[in-house]
This record gives sequence, structure tokens and C-alpha cells, in this order.
Amino acid sequence: MIRAYTIASGKGGTGKTTVTVNLGTALAHYSRETCIIDADTGMANLGLMLGLENAPVTLHEVLAGKAAVKDAIYEGPRGLKVVPSGISLQGFQNAEPQRLKDVMRDLISRCDFLLLDSPVGIGSDAVIPLAVADEVILVVNPEISSLVDALKIRILTEMVGGAVLGAVLNRTTMEDTELNRKKIEKVLGVPVIDVIPEDPNVRRASTFKVPVVVKYPASGASRAFWRIAAMLAGVRYEEQVEEKREGFIERLARALFRR
Ligand SMILES: Nc1ncnc2c1ncn2[C@@H]1O[C@H](COP(=O)(O)OP(=O)(O)O)[C@@H](O)[C@H]1O
Ligand SMILES: [Mg+2]
Repeated sequence: MIRAYTIASGKGGTGKTTVTVNLGTALAHYSRETCIIDADTGMANLGLMLGLENAPVTLHEVLAGKAAVKDAIYEGPRGLKVVPSGISLQGFQNAEPQRLKDVMRDLISRCDFLLLDSPVGIGSDAVIPLAVADEVILVVNPEISSLVDALKIRILTEMVGGAVLGAVLNRTTMEDTELNRKKIEKVLGVPVIDVIPEDPNVRRASTFKVPVVVKYPASGASRAFWRIAAMLAGVRYEEQVEEKREGFIERLARALFRR
């Protein structure tokens, strides 16, 4: 069974961290023991997305040989296990990417799924996650530059003995007709796993430091995340319902009658 996925892209800002956090949360919701790990040790922001920026022990200390993996695991939404990276540059300098393989082995023994949020570039910190995962999921945007960069990552992954599952096309709009699925599959040489629409709720949810699948579970992007997670977990996809919003009258009534 494929269990460790590296979430990668050629350039920054395509949505790797967003995909890692939301797929991880959705997999955890489907009762799968799931860990996510911020292997983007230089530009760590996975912890920031989940309000874990003050975590005392992070992957930095683990990769520097100063802490055990189990001490860097934090509780995320829906029982998700999160290994954040620290935000200090000093911590980044002390981290040894070569240790990542041992960290992954340790985490895999604790969970059904492991998702690695990876850095961009072709340094050892970026290449190791491509080589050590069971499969790589590319996150691409519907732009030529993003596709070209993703293609390089696909080739790099194969060079280091890794395998690519496919690409997730993120931030699509109605105008993306010219770069359709078929063309993207032809350019990248891998299947498009699914399409995630551009959705303002993604950013809205991040201001609350909550994944969009939790904050706005029925929004466009969330639906795609639930679908992809169901596919990976081998369960049936269920429509999620939005929590009912409290109207003005309900809020007023609650304020008046609160004891
Ligand atoms: N489907 C989407 N719709 C709208 N905004 C998105 C979507 N996916 C990602 N974003 C936004 O794009 C920005 C970059 O995403 P991020 O996950 O940090 O990318 P990366 O980790 O690849 O650098 C963030 O501000 C995020 O909120
Ligand atoms: Mg990121």
C-alpha cells in the first residue's frame, strides 16, 4: 500500500502547503491515522497555517539530532498529527536533510498516511523528499511556467529513483479552458489526479488558522480536497455540509438569554 506522499512543485506558491494541510485533515477525518510533516525547513509555514508557530520542539531540532521525532508531533484538526518546522534561520542551518529518511521511517510506523510538504528547488533538502516518498504528488497551477517547472520535478524525481503518482491542478478558474486536463497530462506525462478551483475561502480560512475543509467544508476547494482524500483512502466520497450560519436574530437571542 502506498502511504508516504511528497507534495511537490517546481515553484513556490502553487499551493503545496495548502494541499498538505487540507488533504491531511480530510484523511484524518476519514479515520485514517495521518501525519503531515513540514519538510520545507527553510520557508516553514505549515505550522503557521495551523497556529503551531510557537511549537517548542520542531523538525529543526529533530534534524539537528537534538530531539526525538515523538517530541515534535502536535495535534492538528480531526486528530491529524503535525510535525512543524521552526521559523528561525539558525534552526534551518543546523538541520541535516539526510536525517529526514529516518524521521519518515519513524512516522510511517505510527500512521497510515504520511504527507510531506516539500521545499522548491534542487538542493538536497528538496531532492531527498522526492526520493524517499512512496509517491510524489505534483501541485501545478494552470500556467505554462508552473507546468514547465513541474515537468522538471517529474524528471528529477525519476532520476533519483522516486515515482510520481500524478498532478493536482490547483487554482483553476472558468477561463482555464485552453490549458485543459488532457493537454496538461500530455505535457507532464502523468495523470491529472483532480482539479481544485480558485476559492477565496482558502485564504479566508487561513486567517483563522483553520484548514478550509474544516472552516468551509462544502466550498469548491474543500469539495476537491474531500474527493482526493477519499480516493487516496479508498473510501466513498461524501458531500460535506456547511455548518449553519447563525443569523442576526439568533445571535441577538443568544446574547439576550445567555446566562
Ligand atoms: N485553491 C486555492 N484558491 C485560492 N487561494 C489558494 C488556493 N490554493 C492556495 N491558495 C493561496 O495561495 C497562496 C500560496 O499557497 P501555499 O499553499 O502557501 O503555496 P506553497 O506552499 O506551494 O508555497 C496562499 O496564500 C494560499 O492561501
Ligand atoms: Mg509552502
